[in-house]
Amino acid sequence: MRVPMIAGNWKMNTTIGEAAELVNEMRQGLDAIDNVDKVICPPFVSLAAVRGLIEGSSIKLGAQNMYFEEKGAYTGEISPAMIADLCEFVIIGHSERRQYFNETGDIVNQKVQAALKVGLKPILCVGEKLDENEAGRTKEVVTEQLRSSLAGIDYLGGLIIAYEPVWAIGTGRAATGRQANDTIGLIRHNISELYDEKIAQDLHILYGGSVTADNATEFMQQPEIDGALVGGASLKAGQFLSIVRQTSEIR
Ligand code: PGA
Repeated sequence: MRVPMIAGNWKMNTTIGEAAELVNEMRQGLDAIDNVDKVICPPFVSLAAVRGLIEGSSIKLGAQNMYFEEKGAYTGEISPAMIADLCEFVIIGHSERRQYFNETGDIVNQKVQAALKVGLKPILCVGEKLDENEAGRTKEVVTEQLRSSLAGIDYLGGLIIAYEPVWAIGTGRAATGRQANDTIGLIRHNISELYDEKIAQDLHILYGGSVTADNATEFMQQPEIDGALVGGASLKAGQFLSIVRQTSEIR
């Protein structure tokens, strides 16, 4: 049985003070739920403070990005070891990184490798754009992204995959549970081909894209979906808690 996971991606929101306030609002409620893995991913500058605030609780910490080089003259970048010092997880290849910061499949691949090397659990994001979806190319695009992101990687460690259709992110237009389930099934099938059936069955694959307290149950009821990567709704303590609670009740 895969333990479900709900991860909150706070994106470029919250100052350190606001991050602390948000954690304080949800800490107790989240900590009380023990059959779901709860991960929060605040901005870099708040990671240390948030880590202090969740110490001793069952809430886990993730970063939203990292660079793949170990160290050196890369002004403004954050290394895998710096993240591993604070976090268990790191989001890699989010569509906003691909779209606004020109992250290619090759960069994503190097980041996944670098994260695994320091023992971080990458949350690897894949997903098709609206035009690709409308052209019926979802399977092809997701398969290609998956294969290029994982090229040359023979040990997945604690890697998690998040299927996030780009057209559903931040738009309020979520995929249906069935659509998400089908594509996640396809991802699992790809993993069984690239690795083996046991690895595929053990792998956590999340859905992301406009998940809220109103639609969480629909996703969590699907057999292939192991949880959610939540953006906007993770910035509201009540919404995030409700999503985690609904997940807990279903599983
Ligand atoms: P959203 O973002 O929930 O605001 O659509 C999800 C994500 O980008 O991970």
